[in-house]
Amino acid sequence: MLVLNGPNLGRLGSREPEVYGSDTLADIGAKLEASVPDDVVIDLRQTDDEGVLIGWIHEAVDRGTPVVLNPAAFTHYSYGLRDAAALLKQAGIPLVEVHLSNPHTRETFRHTSVISGVASGVIAGFGAESYRLAIDWLLRPHG
Ligand code: DQA
Repeated sequence: MLVLNGPNLGRLGSREPEVYGSDTLADIGAKLEASVPDDVVIDLRQTDDEGVLIGWIHEAVDRGTPVVLNPAAFTHYSYGLRDAAALLKQAGIPLVEVHLSNPHTRETFRHTSVISGVASGVIAGFGAESYRLAIDWLLRPHG
């Protein structure tokens, strides 16, 4: 599966640790790898570039790969990313939107997600556990 991360998440560890925790994205990736069966491939990526992120979603559409997506600030305003995510929905490929923090407890601009409407589900507020919960769900059979 693809575990995609948007802007500024490459700064985890030093970025507002009181909000996002002290793990780096590499730490989170290592913990996720350790928590899944050996045959599950976690392809964890991060970019600050909207076009690159959209390209990765297109790749998932073309390959039929489930996606865990932390869109970071793009969550709140990127209609381009939403339209890309809608292609996953159209193709019946699961997409779980995740957030380390709970955006609803934060600034008003974070209360809106333009992605959630096309996601299979949203997990927010559990720190790095949000990713693990998303992966747990993706690994379960769904009817
Ligand atoms: C975030 C929440 C967003 O509002 C913010 O812009 C981020 C991280 C989270 O994981 O809590 O960069 O997606």
